[in-house]
Amino acid sequence: MSPFTRNLLVTSALPYANGPIHLGHLVEYIQTDIWVRFQKMRGHRCFYVCADDAHGTPIMLRAQHEGITPEQLVERIGKEHQADFADFNVAFDNYHSTHSTENRYYAQLIYGRLMDAGLITTRTIRQAYDPVKEMFLPDRFIKGGCPRCGALDQYGDACEACGATYAPTELKNAISTLSGAVPIEKESEHYFFRLPALAGWLRAWAGCDHIQPEILNKLNEWFVAGLQEWDITRDEPYFGFEIPGSPGKYFYVWLDAPIGYMASFQNLCNRTPELSFEEFWGTGSSAELYHFIGKDIAYFHTLFWPAILHAAGFRTPSAVYCHGFLTVNGQKMSKSRGTFIKARTYLEHLDPEYLRYYFAAKLGPGIDDIDLNLDDFTNRVNADLIGKVVNIASRCAGFIIKYYEGRLASTLPEPEFYVEAVAAGKSIAAHYENRALGAAMREVMALADRTNQYIDTKKPWVLAKEAGREAELQAVCTQGINLFRVIMTYLKPVLPRTATRAEAFLRDQPLRWESRESPLLDHCVAPFEPLLTRVDPKRVQAMLDAEQGPGVAVPPPKVPGKAVTPPAPSREPIAPTIAYESFAAIDLRVARIVAVDDVPEADKLLRLTLDLGGETRTVFAGIKAAYTAPDLVGRLTVVVANLAPRTFRYGVSEGMVLAAGPGGKEIFLLSPDQGSKPGMRIK
Ligand code: 2FM
Ligand code: ZN
Repeated sequence: MSPFTRNLLVTSALPYANGPIHLGHLVEYIQTDIWVRFQKMRGHRCFYVCADDAHGTPIMLRAQHEGITPEQLVERIGKEHQADFADFNVAFDNYHSTHSTENRYYAQLIYGRLMDAGLITTRTIRQAYDPVKEMFLPDRFIKGGCPRCGALDQYGDACEACGATYAPTELKNAISTLSGAVPIEKESEHYFFRLPALAGWLRAWAGCDHIQPEILNKLNEWFVAGLQEWDITRDEPYFGFEIPGSPGKYFYVWLDAPIGYMASFQNLCNRTPELSFEEFWGTGSSAELYHFIGKDIAYFHTLFWPAILHAAGFRTPSAVYCHGFLTVNGQKMSKSRGTFIKARTYLEHLDPEYLRYYFAAKLGPGIDDIDLNLDDFTNRVNADLIGKVVNIASRCAGFIIKYYEGRLASTLPEPEFYVEAVAAGKSIAAHYENRALGAAMREVMALADRTNQYIDTKKPWVLAKEAGREAELQAVCTQGINLFRVIMTYLKPVLPRTATRAEAFLRDQPLRWESRESPLLDHCVAPFEPLLTRVDPKRVQAMLDAEQGPGVAVPPPKVPGKAVTPPAPSREPIAPTIAYESFAAIDLRVARIVAVDDVPEADKLLRLTLDLGGETRTVFAGIKAAYTAPDLVGRLTVVVANLAPRTFRYGVSEGMVLAAGPGGKEIFLLSPDQGSKPGMRIK
């Protein structure tokens, strides 16, 4: 092995074994898989491990609901997850489960070491308890009125209406979502990991380039707020590992979940004799360890996890890389809009290569959310992959096959251009290394543009018609095909399946990063088969249609720490989205209704005279059934002030008043608080 070869162990977050993989998950697995494939193409020794996160209350309850054991559920979902990943070409070196002997072993070992180090303490706590189900209730399984704004049906930890966070005991009229019973409070002894004892060490660790700057800022806020001891126990009934010597007490799922990274690697070691666990996890390890995660679980991975590893005598992560969330068409994924897209549904309609490229084109090293805009997705994939990259090969291959029996020329006509294309690999590699995948894709597409321009200039289709220019035609196509090969080398981490097809067309060895240094000359290529077809917008729509539909069950409640519960389906279809710019162009003002006149000849209309802070306007509003003049005069409302005037038979309307409700009597004018002043702009 070369002395420059690195040893890397890379992980993605372990998906819960209680639901399907969806496109939101795939941002992370695709990002990590691209990075790992890149490292492998560079000749490094890199292992990518993952597992299903099998423990916890939601999994236990879901199994109960289905009338099967948690083990059976975990087994089934684990298989589904692995099939989804495989079909997206996410190539793990090992995929395991946290409900495994290896994980039990390491969870107990680590717990024992923390105990020996005096880092586990016990305390009796009071918690909500469901007297019917006879179990303690995680916050997400309690609902009631928000103690701050009064909104009904809010979870036990936070209000989705006003954003307040609170203890479940503060909810008004709380009930258990499992049985409908009123929770009682009950005491239980719990074990806590003494995180504050490691605050000094953590501060030093965090300051050493192990985490992104945005996350470091967050960490500093947490340090200032003060670290809390972490409750690592759950009482039975629970699906997890029982704590040795403490019958009825289990490790909290979040304790053994990251230990699952170790367990999966141990499982790989068990079947790979030359691989040593110690080499990757021992304190003196010179291997690199990277965790790719979503920003919502940064707390677990940048505080608890490094602290536990350090305290238990293992090496700590080289880096934790967070990414943002996925929105679809600019909004949180939603079942009612058909944008809560499962991996399997996508696969039934579209090629995974498209999504891999689209995510790569949008991903950067930071934690910004990324948007899957489905029109942009179609246009970009078609323009870049088909219009630019595949086009190069299809423009050149036909001539080489038809006139030269597939044989490439023995020299390149423009060697400098080729050398430049090879040299671009340096900065493209740097972008990959830094997870600046979007920047890498832009450079690759710039190279594809230049290659297409070269072909446009040389016009092989003209050369083919002119006698005596055969050598030139072969040379131009040889140049084009070799540049295509360089481009495919750069895209191979992103488009593994297309790269395999390209290798077959080129009759080449599997492309490695350095393959590009030696062009294919005096070499026969195979007949050209289409490498990738265009995205068909009808298939995109069919995918959305397949996900859309009433009565889709809302998934089981999330456990604390995990984001994105899809909103319940809405009754009305949602109109097509508008760009933020369109929304921002609306001038919304507070107006006082100073006079109201009936419009006798119209069933619904009232003529409102509005004061917009010195300016008076007339606006016709269809609210006659809901309001009478005395209800309205003096009231504040919101008006669209820059709506083009509209002429009715009874006069000109100079704006529009905003109201809510289905219509008829049920129309409700928005009524800003008393601090609002007429004319005030609403931002
Ligand atoms: O948030 C989640 O989906 C967790 N299942 C991730 C666990 S990552 C690691 F800690 F295991
Ligand atoms: Zn609230």
